[in-house]
Amino acid sequence: MERQIKPEQLRSARWFKPANMLGFGHRSRLKQIGYRDEDFAGKPVIGVINTWSELNPCNYHLRERAEAVKRGVWQAGGFPVEIPAFSITETFMKPSPMLYRNLLAMDTEEALRSLPIDGAVLLGGCDKTTPGLLMGAISMDLPALYLPGGPMLRGNWHGQPVGSGTDVRKFWAERCAGTISEEEWNSMEDGIARSPGFCMTMGTASTMTALSEALGLTLPGASSIPAADSNHPRLALRCGQRAVEMVWEDLRPSRILDIRAFENAITVDMAIGGSTNAIIHLVALAGRAGIDLKLPRFEEISERVPVLANIRPSGAFLMEDFYYAGGLRALMAQIRDLLHLDCITVNGRTLGENLEGAHSINPEVIRPRKRPLAPTGGTAILFGSLAPDGAVIKTSAADARLLQHTGPALVFHSIDEMDEQVNRDDLDVTEDSVLVLQNGGPLGAPGMPEWGTLPIPKKLLERGVRDMLRISDSRMSGTAFGACVLHVSPESYVGGPLAFARTGDSISLDLRNHRLDLLVSEAEMNRRRAEWVKPPPRYERGYGALYVERVTQANLGCDFDFLSRKAAVADPEIHGN
Ligand code: FES
Repeated sequence: MERQIKPEQLRSARWFKPANMLGFGHRSRLKQIGYRDEDFAGKPVIGVINTWSELNPCNYHLRERAEAVKRGVWQAGGFPVEIPAFSITETFMKPSPMLYRNLLAMDTEEALRSLPIDGAVLLGGCDKTTPGLLMGAISMDLPALYLPGGPMLRGNWHGQPVGSGTDVRKFWAERCAGTISEEEWNSMEDGIARSPGFCMTMGTASTMTALSEALGLTLPGASSIPAADSNHPRLALRCGQRAVEMVWEDLRPSRILDIRAFENAITVDMAIGGSTNAIIHLVALAGRAGIDLKLPRFEEISERVPVLANIRPSGAFLMEDFYYAGGLRALMAQIRDLLHLDCITVNGRTLGENLEGAHSINPEVIRPRKRPLAPTGGTAILFGSLAPDGAVIKTSAADARLLQHTGPALVFHSIDEMDEQVNRDDLDVTEDSVLVLQNGGPLGAPGMPEWGTLPIPKKLLERGVRDMLRISDSRMSGTAFGACVLHVSPESYVGGPLAFARTGDSISLDLRNHRLDLLVSEAEMNRRRAEWVKPPPRYERGYGALYVERVTQANLGCDFDFLSRKAAVADPEIHGN
């Protein structure tokens, strides 16, 4: 691409160029850190926006990677500045990391807006850090590219590969059923997370980094490189170099992201059997780009895209295997005919050009089209009397017998009630029961945690039951599996129909017709509705109060209503002489 920006047109020149007291102040403060005029004058300032934190093990290596990015920026004639961003850690952040995704998005957008920055490299990986960084960068619309932190190496336990979340849940069920000992269970702690990087199953992190590549916001192949592989720091260096070029080319997210880029991301999401969380994040990302992405579009695309990535939880392998098999470029090359190949990407080339020469070198891990893991996408959208605005199920990770199922509801009003009752010996439940959790949504939980994998009652686990139909307004970890209907909208806390489900009601999941229904008469529903008392907001002050006042429902992406639109926000005024 050609150079379109001259040094005097750089955004940062507004801070550093003026021959007045203000310009003096800005320049002298860079000199305070040890830089000379020639280090920054007339050069693109690249913000290295880093979600490193000592309480975010998935992103722990990003401090080191930032150094490689900065090296690349220097090499390309730019001036790098590393800026910490709010680090959302999936493991430790309570009550739910999802509560804070929008805070990272705001942090990113406002850092880019308020500081003398011309372009950015965004460093993230752990689940919410990818959408949070990208939402902010899309809204600010400076030239920016994403450096995914990369997945961990495979886990290792008793000589067998084990995957984050997926195998932990599987073996915990065995522990509860008494088929493995406490000693065996504890020994897994030392082998489940063996290197830097994010969860190495096709969880939300691997899904969202793959989708950022499909959107055109990473360098080709970037999302598949394991964090511990030496190709990763080399990728980081290249990201720094490329960010400088992007500033000169004025290559902004608004030139990359259109509806076709989002359709590419949905197509890839289906082909990798991606996390259901991706649906919420993609809707939110599209909203930032001014695109109204509706849930039915996911279903339409799902029906024509086969699942080709044989990665847990839908398949058998892990992300390290996926990388050795050719990575995301190889997978996208298998579905070229389903992608918009002329979409432009951050390297200035089209998606089609970036896929040249890519092919699967392990057909067990990245399946050929004629032998898919599943013939259609792993995700379905449901509508019906229980979910008028929609719900989601990951069919590729569910027991197929439960996808056409009607059974009696067993309703828990809260997570605490569920935890207290689910393992009682006298619980009135059978394998045909439909477990329902209320008050797990964006406002009810709050923060829409990953409670959607409701636990199988212990008495059924002991009888060998490993899957049941489960329904909630919560999310589910991308590493999880099971017949779990998620994101029921509107949520129960705001008076959605889920609030009126009672134990003993019949609930029907009819995947063939994409329906989820509460089989209760309209008269009875009206009676229950009239009895319902609206609960008070969960927060009265602080960020939580902003969140409960402005967050949208899952079908709209759970963004803040005042952020989920495209509207010009001016660069800051700089006053003074
Ligand atoms: Fe960070 Fe899974 S805990 S990606």
